[in-house]
Amino acid sequence: MSVERTFSIIKPDAVAAGQAGEILAMIQSAGFKIIGLRMTRLTEPQAQGFYAVHKERPFFSGLVKFMTEGPIMVMALEREDAVKGLREVMGATNPANAAEGTVRKRFAANIERNCIHGSDAPETAGQELRFFFSTADLL
Ligand code: RTP
Ligand code: MG
Repeated sequence: MSVERTFSIIKPDAVAAGQAGEILAMIQSAGFKIIGLRMTRLTEPQAQGFYAVHKERPFFSGLVKFMTEGPIMVMALEREDAVKGLREVMGATNPANAAEGTVRKRFAANIERNCIHGSDAPETAGQELRFFFSTADLL
């Protein structure tokens, strides 16, 4: 297994609730190096583009509304097996199914407002990192 990069978002619910610091600490405790970090706010077209894979799903418009409701933190992360490792730190999409000690178990309200995004594969991690960061931004 080699060092890999992944992309993550602390979603508007968690930023608004003041949970970003604790979530960052959980990510760092799991061995991730933060190589890019910035606060931003998504426009509607950006949120639609970022989650375009879900555009036919019934929850898509609610997802776009949620992701644009307030500031987010976008992160570039590096670790061995980073994509899979971050998904473990996050926990299941629905916090009711998330394992103890995961971000979503601790902080997420429900399957829609679930605090954190993580790339689901190395290919999508590359695309998502390029969506938010230029190479010069990353350590
Ligand atoms: P993410 O992409 O944000 O990391 O989340 P994920 O992989 O765990 O879940 P995904 O299936 O990709 O869904 C993206 C986001 O859409 C919202 N969602 N709502 N109402 C619903 O059934 C539903 N399903 C998904 C969540 O915010 C989810 O994280
Ligand atoms: Mg996903």
